Amino acid sequence: MLAEVLAWLLTPATLDARRTGHLAAAVSLWSRARRCRADWSQHEARCGAVVERAIAGLPARRTCLVLGSGLMRDVSLPRLAATFEKVILVDIVHLWPIRLAARRFPNVRLVDLDVTGTADLLLGRATGIADPLARFRADPTIDLVISANCLSQLALTPVALARRHGGLAHIRFPDLGRRIVEGHLEALRRFSARVCLLSDDEGLDVGRNGEILDRYDLLEGVRLPPADDDWDWTLAPLGEAAADHAVVHRAHGFADFHAADARFRPPSG
Ligand SMILES: C[S@@+](CC[C@H](N)C(=O)[O-])C[C@H]1O[C@@H](n2cnc3c(N)ncnc32)[C@H](O)[C@@H]1O
Repeated sequence: MLAEVLAWLLTPATLDARRTGHLAAAVSLWSRARRCRADWSQHEARCGAVVERAIAGLPARRTCLVLGSGLMRDVSLPRLAATFEKVILVDIVHLWPIRLAARRFPNVRLVDLDVTGTADLLLGRATGIADPLARFRADPTIDLVISANCLSQLALTPVALARRHGGLAHIRFPDLGRRIVEGHLEALRRFSARVCLLSDDEGLDVGRNGEILDRYDLLEGVRLPPADDDWDWTLAPLGEAAADHAVVHRAHGFADFHAADARFRPPSG
């Protein structure tokens, strides 16, 4: 608990990330990741294998952009730094462990950014949703974009904030959560670079004897195409989030999201 309070106080996060609750969410995730290290290791290895497949077919390896980079547990920072001329890590919050790790690599840059473009709307400074990834799409040196297990997280804080405070966001965008998830996928589609998508889409509460007690959608009703690899991620073993059940997420890896998407949604006409 003390470590969490210190992390919250000492992380050089933006005022927005503090006000929206993103910093608190990142600290709590960091804490859980440490407690559930063993349970998450298989998930992280599967993510790493998907990223390797994405890298393998690349014609050039100039810049790699990682969205939702967090602590870079599911994607290897040393591997990316050694493979690409430049690596850009984008997250709404960068806690100290990743700040220190990034300092070892002169070609790694951290960018604090809300990839949903909803922060201004939620904080009453804008009436619409921005397109914060436009500047990266304009960078012709980006050869690989990795969306690193952030898709199911993106709507959580904005939807909770909009519900709690009402206001313009709630009135103008009653479907804010779905818009955010669809918006991120649409933003990925608009990159001409290869896109590697790592995401969970369904949560399961699993009882002591393996029985499924509950299942819930994590993507606001948005469906993903069939993936290159699918696995179960034990997000919270028995006793971590609840005494009577474990929380397991269905996770998916797309080494080439454009290709998977084209197979799922063939062009019309
Ligand atoms: C499940 S974590 C995955 C983190 C990371 N890939 C790792 O291995 O540590 C989801 C990440 O999405 C980030 N995130 C959530 N909302 C965001 C937003 N609006 N903009 C940018 N990043 C966001 C969180 O800060 C968190 O680092």
